Amino acid sequence: MSPTAASLAIPASPRVHALLQRLHAASAAQEHTLSQSWFYLKRLIAFHLFSTTWAAAADDHMRDKFVALEEDKCHFVYLLARSSGALNIVEAGTSFGVSTIYPALAVGQNVADQKARGASVSGRVVATEKEPTKAARAREHWAEAGDEIAGVIDLREGDLLETLKRDDMPEQVDFLLLDIWTPMALPTLKIVKPRLKKGAIVLADNTKMARALYKEYLDYLHDPANGFKTTEVPYSGGLQMSVYLPDESS
Ligand SMILES: C[S@@+](CC[C@H](N)C(=O)[O-])C[C@H]1O[C@@H](n2cnc3c(N)ncnc32)[C@H](O)[C@@H]1O
Repeated sequence: MSPTAASLAIPASPRVHALLQRLHAASAAQEHTLSQSWFYLKRLIAFHLFSTTWAAAADDHMRDKFVALEEDKCHFVYLLARSSGALNIVEAGTSFGVSTIYPALAVGQNVADQKARGASVSGRVVATEKEPTKAARAREHWAEAGDEIAGVIDLREGDLLETLKRDDMPEQVDFLLLDIWTPMALPTLKIVKPRLKKGAIVLADNTKMARALYKEYLDYLHDPANGFKTTEVPYSGGLQMSVYLPDESS
């Protein structure tokens, strides 16, 4: 049997691979419907006509949707987290917890590598979800994945503009994944920024597809005074990758 893209990118148990395959398929089935395409189109139209960035009705519509990060982007997240040796990752926007499994695998494996070299380290993925029903589904999926995943995740339920301000955050954040409604991207980055280590990676999803909605976020990244180097990775919809490299001489 030829290897799958998932098995080439991600070392994980057959149980975790089977779970991920099932969850990505369920998410893709929801996304590839006419009603979901119409929902996204309506959002863009509302933004251009009325400058509406998000509405309570959109939360209602999204409550039973996975909107999971696509599988190829999840592989990229995992590989970046492994190559950078990330120990503390923040995920803004967790939904049913699909994308969270990838940084959780990476952090668990990074910790194990360091421990094997004699270092005394720990790590975690701080996940965030404001919808209680979504948070409950995420916990179920992580329990199904097993302890190697569930034990690494610190899920904060509620508005991340509050939960990420708590004192019990990791002192240093190595990686920030922004998979959140577009108006939340910049406020979230600003909350986490004081904890970003030099060289921290920040990813934001769908920056090409929703470029107009990301204007303030992208303007912020493009201003050299804010300390980021940034490029768009040409995944479907665009994935903005930034590295925090503040100028320490000034
Ligand atoms: C695109 S989905 C995340 C998908 C997830 N990363 C995955 O790949 O499986 C964005 C999620 O962010 C949540 N969200 C939106 N605003 C939030 C806020 N202020 N605080 C916490 N979660 C929020 C939404 O409820 C939604 O489930």
